[in-house]
Amino acid sequence: MYQKKPGVFMADWWDADGRRHRKQFATSAAAREHEHRETALAHAERASREMKLAARTSGTKRSPKTEDGGTIDPAKGKLGVMIPGMGAVATTFVAGVEAIRKGLAKPIGSLTQMGTIRLGKRTDARSPKVKEFIPLAGLDDLVFTGWDIFEDNMYEAASNAGVLDYRLLEQLKPFLSSITPRAAVFDHNYVKKIDGPNVKKGKNKMDLAQQVRDDIREFKKTSGASRLITMWCGSTESYIEPTEAHQSVKSFEKALRENDEFIAPSMIYAYASLMEGVPFANGAPNLTVDLPVMLELSRKNEAPICGKDFKTGQTLMKTVLAPAFKARLLGLSGWYSTNILGNRDGEVLDDPGSFKTKEESKLGVLEHILQPGLYPELYGNMFHKVRINYYPPRGDNKEGWDNIDIFGWLGYPMQIKVDFLCRDSILAAPIVLDLVLFLDLAHRCSTLRGLGIQEWLSFYFKSPMTVPALYPEHDLFIQLMKLKNTLRHLKGEELITHLGLEYYD
Ligand SMILES: NC(=O)c1ccc[n+]([C@@H]2O[C@H](COP(=O)([O-])OP(=O)(O)OC[C@H]3O[C@@H](n4cnc5c(N)ncnc54)[C@H](O)[C@@H]3O)[C@@H](O)[C@H]2O)c1
Repeated sequence: MYQKKPGVFMADWWDADGRRHRKQFATSAAAREHEHRETALAHAERASREMKLAARTSGTKRSPKTEDGGTIDPAKGKLGVMIPGMGAVATTFVAGVEAIRKGLAKPIGSLTQMGTIRLGKRTDARSPKVKEFIPLAGLDDLVFTGWDIFEDNMYEAASNAGVLDYRLLEQLKPFLSSITPRAAVFDHNYVKKIDGPNVKKGKNKMDLAQQVRDDIREFKKTSGASRLITMWCGSTESYIEPTEAHQSVKSFEKALRENDEFIAPSMIYAYASLMEGVPFANGAPNLTVDLPVMLELSRKNEAPICGKDFKTGQTLMKTVLAPAFKARLLGLSGWYSTNILGNRDGEVLDDPGSFKTKEESKLGVLEHILQPGLYPELYGNMFHKVRINYYPPRGDNKEGWDNIDIFGWLGYPMQIKVDFLCRDSILAAPIVLDLVLFLDLAHRCSTLRGLGIQEWLSFYFKSPMTVPALYPEHDLFIQLMKLKNTLRHLKGEELITHLGLEYYD
């Protein structure tokens, strides 16, 4: 749904055949309702077709065999990682990669580095490491650049973020100091709590996009990278809804030239990357690539996209616990989540506009997992509240509390309390690494590169992107199965359905 002009709201949906439709309404509520209804119908139609297809093809679960280097190009040469926003997450990620390369630490939390993947039957005992099963770029091949509104190099930015111990940072100092930020595309209206000197100037937003494209080309040339990835680790931008400017490449480019206020800086980086054929992942909850224009560009230029908002602390827990309640048909009357955090991200989120963007991203999760429409007695009246409070003494060490009111047999109430004393960037860094490597894989893979949105990477996001006709999967274990089955599919391995009847034949 988007607002065309004051008083004109467009419902915008895709039918079961992938055709896009739009219809005009006088209120946003009517447009949203129509869009939801049509989307649900399209989804039901697709599901029924998939079931018919599955019934016809049951017993033939093997996907066509593909070979390394055939439909997946080898990961040859350097992979350039470009990061708008060189703050706590970005520096913890880059410093971590260097520490691991030097043998100073282990890549804990990273599926690509430590995870295994079961192949074939449980009795086959085949569980290679993910990175040995599928051709991924090696850590030694990663090279980095970034943009930020502050002039601090990565060593200074990591020291200011205060996530990593200074003894570790001292050992990485020469490497981290060599990564200095390029001038950023920035608009204070989108991030009200911060301002900095290292900002590009241009005659309009198209000019700024051109400057980012020049940066990308320059980095590719000077770093010698054979492939590139852009990973948004910048601050959360103020909440906006899609407008007509975001509906096609043509309207977006016109809006860039006209300095349209609804084009946020993150969208300029995304546009520049996709125009250069570079995949883009969005770690924040901003719209950024979750827009028709970006899907169009991504498909056209075969540059995969994914987002939004890294799933790290509280939402990770929520997407583990909520599926358990639903699996056991336990009801939920309320879920109150509150956080205290004191890093710069917390300061930015103290602004109501940025908080609203984050809130929307965090709130969608329960609705999608618990499906109150299907289970009205269990989840029809749940109250869900999310708060984030900026509390400087804690720095990056966030504390997330959850009070969960559930009810069981005969309606008897129970409570669960979760108190997660986590480290935000320590949880985010391995996600960044996996996304870099998997997006690069998608880009090298003939099956995935033209799809646009990489839904199989929803495992990593609070608010996963899907095509408009699909609701997102939030359940962490469905997401993990989707990811691993995608890898099996790419290599022509049998998909794992957990049916298991064959063991009892
Ligand atoms: N750490 C987590 O667990 C986590 C989880 C989900 C999402 N995120 C999101 O990841 C992003 C980064 O988090 P962080 O903790 O590193 O924040 P941070 O404040 O430490 O770093 C963000 C950096 O982005 C820079 N920046 C802002 N606008 C920019 C622009 N237009 N161009 C270039 N640089 C820009 C800021 O100057 C800052 O250095 C935030 O949006 C956050 O909400 C973090």
